[in-house]
Amino acid sequence: MRLFFALWPPRETARALAEWALAIQQGAGGRVAKEDNIHLTLAFLGDADLGKASAAAEPVRCNRFDLPIDTAKYWKHNRIVWVGPAVLPAALSGMVEKLHDSLKEKGFVLEERPFAAHVTLVRRAALPGRIPPLPRIQWPVDEFVLVESRNGRYEVLERYPL
Ligand code: 2AM
Repeated sequence: MRLFFALWPPRETARALAEWALAIQQGAGGRVAKEDNIHLTLAFLGDADLGKASAAAEPVRCNRFDLPIDTAKYWKHNRIVWVGPAVLPAALSGMVEKLHDSLKEKGFVLEERPFAAHVTLVRRAALPGRIPPLPRIQWPVDEFVLVESRNGRYEVLERYPL
């Protein structure tokens, strides 16, 4: 099973982000993320055992927080347009550290590069001439999820309250 941990936005939040992505696509082309697929990855496991991944997630707790979505960027190296927090909230970095530590204790090998909080909204995009301003986005976080990725489709398998 191809698994990853993520924050999944409330429906209204996903809708606002999907609409904004369409505005970007008009200028930069590419493929916009489907509203139902929009997420922020916390840890990508690749092919992994569900029970082991779940056991690593269970003890991870932190205070609920609001995720600011206040920056939008284009990454040339993989041609994506993403949005995320301009400054990583302490609650999120603390939570990701706990999750990564717990996963490593269970023997998972994670990517070496530092965690980059990003929500991919457009793939295969050309350099956007102009990035439209982001709408005001509310993304309250009170849980994280374990997701299976199968043929480009995502299914939330388990939820972990904070
Ligand atoms: P991306 O949006 O920057 O591509 C499911 O593939 C999720 O896991 C995506 O959010 C993707 O990030 C992320 N991810 C992180 N590392 C990955 C990897 N090595 N292969 C595929 N997806 C990865």
